[in-house]
Amino acid sequence: MATAGFKTESPFVKRDERTHDASDLKYQKFLDTVSGAVSNKKTVVMALFGVGRAGGIHLGNLMAHSSIRLKYVVESDQRKWKQIQSVCGDGTKIYGHADQVKEMLSDPELNACVICTPTFTHKDIILQCLEAGKAVFSEKPIGETPEDTKVCYMTAEKVNRPLFCGFQRRFDPTFSDIQSRVRKGEAGHIQIIKSISRDSPLPSIEYLKISGGIFHDCMVHDIDMQTWVLGELPSQVHTMANAQIPEIAEIDDYDNVVTTLKFPSGTLGIINVNRFAAYGYDQRLEVFGMKAMYEADNGRPNTAVYSTSTGASSVPIYHSFPSRYEESYAAEMDCFVDVVNGTKELPITYLHSSVVSKIADAAEKSAREGVPVDLTWEKSEVPQGYYC
Ligand SMILES: NC(=O)c1ccc[n+]([C@@H]2O[C@H](COP(=O)([O-])OP(=O)(O)OC[C@H]3O[C@@H](n4cnc5c(N)ncnc54)[C@H](O)[C@@H]3O)[C@@H](O)[C@H]2O)c1
Repeated sequence: MATAGFKTESPFVKRDERTHDASDLKYQKFLDTVSGAVSNKKTVVMALFGVGRAGGIHLGNLMAHSSIRLKYVVESDQRKWKQIQSVCGDGTKIYGHADQVKEMLSDPELNACVICTPTFTHKDIILQCLEAGKAVFSEKPIGETPEDTKVCYMTAEKVNRPLFCGFQRRFDPTFSDIQSRVRKGEAGHIQIIKSISRDSPLPSIEYLKISGGIFHDCMVHDIDMQTWVLGELPSQVHTMANAQIPEIAEIDDYDNVVTTLKFPSGTLGIINVNRFAAYGYDQRLEVFGMKAMYEADNGRPNTAVYSTSTGASSVPIYHSFPSRYEESYAAEMDCFVDVVNGTKELPITYLHSSVVSKIADAAEKSAREGVPVDLTWEKSEVPQGYYC
């Protein structure tokens, strides 16, 4: 036996010294659950605004979280109420009107509000909740414009309540592992960072009309990811975009976008966003550094490989964001609970949200005017730890 010489000691020797790799977050979650660390969290009483595509995901996570009690739901479409009530049970009260929300917001037991209504409604609802003294989680983007975003965060600061922005990709185990390795310098100076985000399924045209456009609806995720991974802000962006889908051209939006970003340290960024990918929700990242190259690929619902005489196949990549980012949405809500309880710092601050909004504006301006757009940064605009 040629390999007999490689025999090692019994795995029972030093058994207790062996532990799991830090990347196995699910195993860590299991340990936290059995040790009681999860159930020891203080319960946060919450209200959810809007139960559509994003709100539906959060509704499931709010109901499943052992330290969240969902006391209220606010949903303007009454046709959804019966279904919502059946998911939440009788312990949750449903409201549909702004005048009733006043009564709800005066409930001292209510700690936090989760905002998943369309983007154009965010500012008013966020301000209402903050001014009532509630912590707020808002789906991205916080506001439709940099000014709206600023007003929301200034109010959060004034009333001393956290405003948490739902950039769930930061909680994706693969992206966050890559970010931490890049920030530790393991890949050296990054030469190129490239992200691809292709939407699936095609959203309704009604949604697209109120989405805020592909830059603020979709590309904001990539902008946050690239600046967060690098810890750097671009000095120039240049976009080429078109609308091959006639209905999208009619509403003056784009469905194919490529933005290049020039970072002051010499790193080049490439963001490719598409509104429709027929083969599934395509979300990838590649970071090419002097010392290493890191890739985040698409996951699939199962790992079966079907081999035949003509080749091999597998099931399609995840269909859309609820399945692709299932873990990330749960992890960000868990983080929000810790922020509300004061056991974790707010991970995404005003400066993170506002730089993303400013870069998205510049990328859109470049597409519309057909020229590169320069970006300059005041010291006061730069998030802590970011370079520009
Ligand atoms: N982070 C992500 O991956 C992600 C994914 C999808 C959407 N979003 C964000 O979530 C927000 C909502 O998008 P969506 O796709 O879920 O929209 P949607 O249209 O599917 O759902 C919005 C829901 O809010 C309800 N609503 C509208 N106005 C309301 C009001 N004033 N009060 C109470 N309910 C109201 C609607 O009836 C609907 O049920 C947007 O800001 C979007 O950018 C984020």
